[in-house]
Amino acid sequence: MQMRVMGIAGSIRRGSFNRALLDAAVELMPEGMEVAPWDRLREVPFYDAALDTDELRPEPVADLKRAIAEADGLLIVTPEYNYSIPGVLKNAIDWASRPGYKSVFVGKPVAIMGASGSMMGTARAQIHLREIMYATLARVMPHPGVLVNQAPQKFEDGRLVDEPTRTVVASFLRDFQTYVRQMQGG
Ligand SMILES: Cc1cc2nc3c(=O)[nH]c(=O)nc-3n(C[C@H](O)[C@H](O)[C@H](O)COP(=O)(O)O)c2cc1C
Repeated sequence: MQMRVMGIAGSIRRGSFNRALLDAAVELMPEGMEVAPWDRLREVPFYDAALDTDELRPEPVADLKRAIAEADGLLIVTPEYNYSIPGVLKNAIDWASRPGYKSVFVGKPVAIMGASGSMMGTARAQIHLREIMYATLARVMPHPGVLVNQAPQKFEDGRLVDEPTRTVVASFLRDFQTYVRQMQGG
């Protein structure tokens, strides 16, 4: 059966390297896996617990939660902002993480990648994101990860062109496919 992975890039910037890295994942996914980007991050309002009810929840948030619930796994591609993840991404995770410990994240296999201009290639942001996802009881794949450093040199016209990085992404996705299967008990 086809494995469905929801992909979310934590940048709303036109020309985002992280969104382009997610596109590379769509291109490089192994047979039997489908990566579907969720591109509505810009529409998610600031978290407001008073609106977080079945009657009042904003539609993009309901859609985000539906997409996570329906996916076999989640691929988060995060930029690094001041050694952490961007607020837009944290905000979306906060919405989806409620009700606490009973949300759509519970038990969900999660893989993390990221691209940045620095030598560290989002290492610090990825560490933060792991911590955040632990709070949601998602199952973050233990992995050396995909850290795309010096991003401007690795993308051209919105496409990941660096061959060694493409090879790493393809291998990472195969590992995630195996991990999701393991988490599903098969
Ligand atoms: C507010 C802000 C803070 C940033 N902080 C970091 C940082 O701590 N580490 C880093 O590697 N890059 C940092 N950058 C550079 C981003 O990695 C770079 O802008 C990257 O292209 C953002 O991802 P995107 O291309 O997907 O939008 C920062 C950029 C912004 C706008």
